[in-house]
Amino acid sequence: MSHHGHFFRAFLRNSGTVGAIAPSSPELAKRMLEWMDWSSIECAVEFGAGTGVFTEAIGPYLKPGAKFIAIERDPELAEITRRRCPEVNLHETCVSRVREICDEAGVEKVDAIICGLPWASFSSELQDQFLDAMFEVLPPGGQFATFAYWQGLALPAGQRFRRYLKRHFTKVEQSPTAWKNLPPAFVYRCER
Ligand SMILES: C[S@@+](CC[C@H](N)C(=O)[O-])C[C@H]1O[C@@H](n2cnc3c(N)ncnc32)[C@H](O)[C@@H]1O
Repeated sequence: MSHHGHFFRAFLRNSGTVGAIAPSSPELAKRMLEWMDWSSIECAVEFGAGTGVFTEAIGPYLKPGAKFIAIERDPELAEITRRRCPEVNLHETCVSRVREICDEAGVEKVDAIICGLPWASFSSELQDQFLDAMFEVLPPGGQFATFAYWQGLALPAGQRFRRYLKRHFTKVEQSPTAWKNLPPAFVYRCER
């Protein structure tokens, strides 16, 4: 089965946590990563790796010696990312454990978080839980990229998440739309 087939099956199993019917496109991966100041990144963490589209794209951006940790909770999707990117330190668990994972890896702070979580599908409790976990590792100055589908903005959870970003980050910019993505999406490019 193709990556798209596995991803769609994961969506049918768990639509609320997978939050998309297809993996992101290379165009969206580029929009997620191209704006970051990679020369200052000693450690990057990916939230919600899925089938590894961003995971694979991140490798060439990392400077020599930089650490990279990916987190994905769905076992089938995690296995695909593991096979696709065997060199990556991938944790098959919930992102709420990010502080513990960083401690185990000897990482005190994270300079960038590349996030694929479906924020507009989450309850306000889950949004708060994952954002709190993120702020335990991302210090002021840290970079954060996450994407949103345009139709997700019509949902109360999508609006709430947008307000949260504007309140808690010093800089929040919106990328141009990745039109070839299914569905079209844009990236919130944030600095804490
Ligand atoms: C919209 S998909 C994005 C996948 C991939 N980054 C991409 O862009 O194709 C969201 C991913 O986040 C994962 N996910 C959702 N909640 C999670 C959590 N609490 N901890 C870790 N992964 C989670 C899902 O299993 C899914 O693979």
